[in-house]
Amino acid sequence: MPLPIFLPCAAGVEALLEAEVRRLLPDAAPEAQRGGVALAGEPGDVMRLNLESRLAQRVLLEVAEGAYRDEGDLYALTHAVDWSDWITPRQTIRVDATAQRSPLKSLNFAALRVKDGVCDRMRDAHGERPSVDTARPDLQIVLHVGAERAALYVDSSGESLFKRGWRADTGDAPLKETLAAAMLAAAGWQGRADAGGALHDPCCGSGTIAIEAAQIAAGIAAGALRRFAFERLLPFTGAALRADLQRLRSHARERVQPPQVPIFASDISFRMIDFARRNAERAGVAPWIVFNGGDALERPAPVLPAELPGTLMVNPPYGERIEVGGKGRAPALPSPAASRADGDAPQAGRRASRGEAAAQEQRQAPGDFFARLAAHWKHAYTAHPAGWTAWILSPDMRLPSAMRLKESRRVPMWNGPIECRLFRFDLVAGSARERG
Ligand SMILES: C[S@@+](CC[C@H](N)C(=O)[O-])C[C@H]1O[C@@H](n2cnc3c(N)ncnc32)[C@H](O)[C@@H]1O
Repeated sequence: MPLPIFLPCAAGVEALLEAEVRRLLPDAAPEAQRGGVALAGEPGDVMRLNLESRLAQRVLLEVAEGAYRDEGDLYALTHAVDWSDWITPRQTIRVDATAQRSPLKSLNFAALRVKDGVCDRMRDAHGERPSVDTARPDLQIVLHVGAERAALYVDSSGESLFKRGWRADTGDAPLKETLAAAMLAAAGWQGRADAGGALHDPCCGSGTIAIEAAQIAAGIAAGALRRFAFERLLPFTGAALRADLQRLRSHARERVQPPQVPIFASDISFRMIDFARRNAERAGVAPWIVFNGGDALERPAPVLPAELPGTLMVNPPYGERIEVGGKGRAPALPSPAASRADGDAPQAGRRASRGEAAAQEQRQAPGDFFARLAAHWKHAYTAHPAGWTAWILSPDMRLPSAMRLKESRRVPMWNGPIECRLFRFDLVAGSARERG
């Protein structure tokens, strides 16, 4: 009997995730909904989605759904589920709750009633109840309450799927791996000459975009390095399904091969390059990424074979979070940061205090950085015969005018709570489309 599955994802990524599910599970009928994708699937599909999806945040299995008015109804909805199908009373649980237009006053209390419903049902059946473990539960239950209806899900992933298992070193504002994958998917970049060509991230930070790209190009499964919550849940602990999971993992390992296109990553901060390189080693892609230090406003374009197109994919420094370094940085006034002696970008990887940030905001002129970046691209990237296409993720809706370039696409995408656009600029010889 297929299970109803829901894959939550970042807003704006739903259609891309639906396409990814179609590719991973050709027989499934996924449907993009607000905030995710719904489908029905077997336990084997649940395992495959956890292992292979690059865009889903989690794989949730719906176990109950119904109308509710108060916490009593949520308790009844929970109590009606046979939780012995999922865990033994010796195992542990945690309940998380999310809401959208719910009339309930306290989500904590709602989650508590769900916990009671699970424990009471288990005690009725076994004479003992599971205990709560908020840090590392065996069974993570997600309650979602809407205006009138509620749903209960078993979280088959555990830790969110953006945690691929390779990141130990981060900068100050690393992209989530799922968002980096969504940027690449929106660009149609698949690591082939006919699907994006070479890749270059000139502001790579901890390397998320380049590492995600290298794993895609090499065929490395997104979840190859991690475990999943379903591995501790009863429907998945039988010998046959364990063997299926081993098979899925080893097929994924067998298909890995060096990428067909080169991947380049650079950053003004040598400390970041160090982080990125170490992350790439853990992700199994270090030999396939060319890392360099350097100012994005000055670095020459990577040299490519004449017929190979290139894709620039950038999550640039912006706002208070990460500041522009190198040539794009306005003249430094005396500040504590200016006295740093580690040879690093003076402001990179460091959060400014509020007053400091306000002062720097005035002198950093980020608009100028983007105008100079565009000028550099027009100078250094348009000469390549097969052309470069640049994609920039930015919360600034006026970025194209700051760059004095006309975008050929703008894709809405949310970076956590920040509404962004992924802008596309075509840097083709003689036709860098300039804004009037
Ligand atoms: C928003 S962060 C990128 C985060 C990255 N996507 C990640 O996942 O870790 C922006 C990066 O731009 C770098 N940066 C700032 N000014 C630069 C410049 N002029 N040239 C190259 N990199 C620069 C910073 O050092 C920082 O690592």
